[in-house]
Amino acid sequence: MCGIVGYTGKRNAAPLIVEGLKCLEYRGYDSFGLAVMESGDGSAGHEDAAGKPTVIKKQGRISDAGSDVSVACGNIGIGHTRWATHGVPSDVNAHPHTDCSGDIAVVHNGIIENYAELKKVLIAEGHVFKSETDTEVIAHLLEKFCNTADADGLIGDEKIDFAVKNLMNTLEGSFALLILIRGFNGLIAIKRFSPLVLGIGDDELFASSDMTPILEHTQKILFLEDNDYAYLTPDGIRVFGYPSGEAVEREVKTVDWDVESAKKGGYEYFMEKEIFEQPAVFVNSFRQKIDDGAISVLKKASSITVVACGSSYHAGLIFRYLMEKYCKIPVRVEIASEFLNFTIAKGTAVIAVTQSGETADTLAALRHAKANGCPVFAVTNVLGSSVTRIADYVLYTRAGPEISVAATKSFTAQCAVLLRIVSLIGKGIFEKELFEIYPVLEETLLFDPADASAVCKDAENIFYVGRGVYYPISLEGALKMKEITYIHAEGCAAGELKHGPFSLLTPKTPVVAVCTKDDAYPVMISNIKEMKARGAPVIAIGSSGDKDLKEIADIFIPLPRSENICEVISATIILQMIAYNTAVLLGRDVDKPRNLAKSVTVI
Ligand code: F6R
Repeated sequence: MCGIVGYTGKRNAAPLIVEGLKCLEYRGYDSFGLAVMESGDGSAGHEDAAGKPTVIKKQGRISDAGSDVSVACGNIGIGHTRWATHGVPSDVNAHPHTDCSGDIAVVHNGIIENYAELKKVLIAEGHVFKSETDTEVIAHLLEKFCNTADADGLIGDEKIDFAVKNLMNTLEGSFALLILIRGFNGLIAIKRFSPLVLGIGDDELFASSDMTPILEHTQKILFLEDNDYAYLTPDGIRVFGYPSGEAVEREVKTVDWDVESAKKGGYEYFMEKEIFEQPAVFVNSFRQKIDDGAISVLKKASSITVVACGSSYHAGLIFRYLMEKYCKIPVRVEIASEFLNFTIAKGTAVIAVTQSGETADTLAALRHAKANGCPVFAVTNVLGSSVTRIADYVLYTRAGPEISVAATKSFTAQCAVLLRIVSLIGKGIFEKELFEIYPVLEETLLFDPADASAVCKDAENIFYVGRGVYYPISLEGALKMKEITYIHAEGCAAGELKHGPFSLLTPKTPVVAVCTKDDAYPVMISNIKEMKARGAPVIAIGSSGDKDLKEIADIFIPLPRSENICEVISATIILQMIAYNTAVLLGRDVDKPRNLAKSVTVI
């Protein structure tokens, strides 16, 4: 996730872009940049913009930047605050990116899936690349299409239309783009699967990843739809649909949100926003290409060991169940802080799973594995983080920055990447189901956690139980509940309760049971009956239409009708929603639970 912002009007653009980027820092903050250019006399529409865009870009946070970044002059500008996905955070990888001539400047939020193939072709055609990013191909493609349009004698709107349509035809992936082209008197905005909104002020126009930078200047917001492209010029905003190229009308809404609620997309807390981002985050993380070399090393390993902490450890446990079942490769999962006590079998590949890439215990465990001669892997959300410098192979989750301390979208993104490994080693198992999971997860988010939270909020202890892959999901559900509500919650393998914890069950101890119609279903039903017999109220999450479970449980939460593997992710989201809603009911500081830090860099 990155943030982009644009301005065209009569004011000097740079200070407005800088202020806008500060509002978008929650979307990424490892580097920033802007490009501005001066319009001409404003009369003719396209031929009158003067000069090349001036570009300033740097590694680091826009909020730490000096006043020198605001000095560039020009009344048309674009800016970017970055959360790196391709190419480490650095001055050269910061946006905007330019073509060979420097006449075109581009800022981008999203991922260009086919950039490697495109880059190869463009280099063969003589284009010179400066950065390691996927975005730079966009600037060079536009250069190529503008040159073709020039050679064909196209000018003005026709030339720009030709370049934009060819660009949209060529790119695969997700992108919100803001573009400056020398000679075009305004901004070009393009949207496909990444957010982009436009603002309409008095004699000035704005564009941004969300409304926060715009609301200070105008409340009139135009929401672009996927595959829209728009020209923001002194004549106003014109929106067109791709591939038809026909002009389309988009409603302009008056929005009266304050800046803080706009940053959270109208959600009360970042955690809620991040829960709702999961359909896109999961799909983006699962669909990415994974290096064949990495997969072949894992295939050849005699066993795999995962090292991780907290939620990341639970993602490792889910991986274990699925990898062992479908790929028959032995997997061990170790809490990173305990790993140094153990020996590592010869031929073991070790995977560190860490959202931040900075967790000290996980880094120590991976270094230990490397020192023992193991091939070492990292699954992480942060490009250029410490773990990426230790690992031989790095696989990225595509969650974007996670602001809330409790992991939600980063956890399901880890599951997505780990499931992708299972799928690639397991000859395409789950591939179709998980490529098509988006609507299932959207439907999951319609769940209303009110009834379940009403039971949980008054409890002092809650048990979470499941079997098979739902055991680690129960551990994760319990961790979410305890860390943000401060209610003691314990995840257990359902079969273990009778070996001790049964003595704690009373009518005041709710049990959250995850019980879908998989192999473990019959024995889970017996376990749930045993818990009911001890008087515990049962909240059961199960497959759609399960009449038996509905009958036994006090509260039955049906998952959307889908394949077994999709139910695993849906159940995780339901548990997050129950924990979140309970914490809100209890008035907790949801995004910043007491005593916890987002990144634990001490041992
Ligand atoms: C729980 C949570 C933590 C982290 C753990 C590891 O919601 O966020 O348990 O999962 O601190 O952090 P990373 O994944 O950054 O290594």
